[in-house]
Amino acid sequence: METDETLGANGDVFVHRLKELTEEEKQRLELQNTRIIPEGKASKLEREARKHWDLFYKRNETKFFRDRHWTTREFQELINFDSDEQIAFLELGCGVGNMIFPLVKEGFTNFYFYACDFSPRAVEFVKANKLFDGSRMKAFCADLTSDDLFENIEEGTVDIASLIFVLSAIHPTAWTQVAKIAYRALKPGGMLLFRDYGRYDMAQLRFKPGHKIADNFYMRQDGTRSYYFTEEELASLFSTAGFEILMNTYVQRRTVNFKEGIDVPRIFVQGKYKKPAT
Ligand SMILES: C[S@@+](CC[C@H](N)C(=O)[O-])C[C@H]1O[C@@H](n2cnc3c(N)ncnc32)[C@H](O)[C@@H]1O
Repeated sequence: METDETLGANGDVFVHRLKELTEEEKQRLELQNTRIIPEGKASKLEREARKHWDLFYKRNETKFFRDRHWTTREFQELINFDSDEQIAFLELGCGVGNMIFPLVKEGFTNFYFYACDFSPRAVEFVKANKLFDGSRMKAFCADLTSDDLFENIEEGTVDIASLIFVLSAIHPTAWTQVAKIAYRALKPGGMLLFRDYGRYDMAQLRFKPGHKIADNFYMRQDGTRSYYFTEEELASLFSTAGFEILMNTYVQRRTVNFKEGIDVPRIFVQGKYKKPAT
């Protein structure tokens, strides 16, 4: 039988088709429509997005997200450099640094790391990390829906940027701005590495009525928000911003935690978007 699946490392499966919903899953999605978040509350969530994320880090400190050890496996671009080449790496929406610190641990001595987030607490956690080294890292606050970034970084100077589980937290009307910011930050030939939640991921299906803000966009209990992407939406967003699409796919993987008895299928989207060299 013909298949459009490709096996990635560590059990990841790359597929280019949307998950098919069971009847029960369709009903669950329908049920979410019975109580949509009113417009006034949705606007308040948008105005207070930074506050909700900052409180998230006040509550969870550095304990919530796991270190992202998969990045060099999934993004060979990170290791395709001569060790004497100076590389400027920018993590957009860095949280407490779960992407950059594993790279620091692995060496990457030729990298200069920029890490930004709009949560002041998250940035303070990055700076307080024992692996933080001010001679090769700069952590700062920036809201990706504005031009803040360029107060700390020059346009066109970044070799690799990453946007890992960040765009889903941002209102869909601001995505174009975020894609443009990433584009402007990169050098010609530079690369944006992307990973986020995919359409019909189990976390999307689990939302109860009272959490849906708009199609595929939800509020979590703590006031942070999350969108679930299709491949097509991302291809359109990033190509309109000027990027060449090198990879753009769903990733299916199982998240297993034997201690907690968890074994769940997850759906992510992963992309590699290149700023054309000329
Ligand atoms: C799910 S966390 C991911 C953090 C990190 N990239 C990681 O992989 O662990 C989403 C992050 O996006 C940040 N964020 C959300 N909206 C933002 C915005 N408009 N500008 C900058 N950062 C934002 C949040 O503060 C949060 O740290």
